[in-house]
Amino acid sequence: KGDPRLEAISAAIRVVPNFPKKGIMFQDITTLLLDHKAFKHTIDIFVDRYKDMQISVVADDMQMIVGVEARGFMFGPPIALAIGAKFVPLRKPGKLPGKVISESYELEYGHDRLEMHVDAVEPLERVIIIDDLVATGGTLSAAISLMESQGAEVVECACVIGLPEVKGQHKLKGKPLYVLVEPS
Ligand code: PRP
Repeated sequence: KGDPRLEAISAAIRVVPNFPKKGIMFQDITTLLLDHKAFKHTIDIFVDRYKDMQISVVADDMQMIVGVEARGFMFGPPIALAIGAKFVPLRKPGKLPGKVISESYELEYGHDRLEMHVDAVEPLERVIIIDDLVATGGTLSAAISLMESQGAEVVECACVIGLPEVKGQHKLKGKPLYVLVEPS
């Protein structure tokens, strides 16, 4: 708050009414990716927050950034590279070739599932989970469950955009949620 970079980030996110269906105000981060300055501000803010956070008990630096398909893959890797952490992708079903564990979560209509390679994570590793947007928090909750099932510790979930009307943080199994902007 009060950081002029946040205004640049907000301004670079395109809002598309009635996509993918009537009544939804779609938050389009592809225009943020087109804006080099605003995209860099986004990554810099996360990097500043996490680079000095001692989030590993097995080493003295950050171990792992986890990104959720598809848009968590756009923000997670540059953060991981900058802070010297590994990047672990959580994918939609049937995409990962190795041994996976999976977790179902509720959508507005029906279910979806996230999968992770079991050998991607060591017990006691401490992680930050990244996505572009939190709405109901269902996706992030599934991601938290996957990490915890492997003995990892989720320190925080972080998103570029947080929808205020849906209390995502209450669903995140008590984990802190860090968001940069709320839709105007
Ligand atoms: C969107 C968004 C988050 C999720 C947030 O992804 O990128 O991952 O929804 O919603 P929630 O907090 O209510 O769970 P989507 O499911 O559209 O998948 P995609 O990024 O692969 O298109």
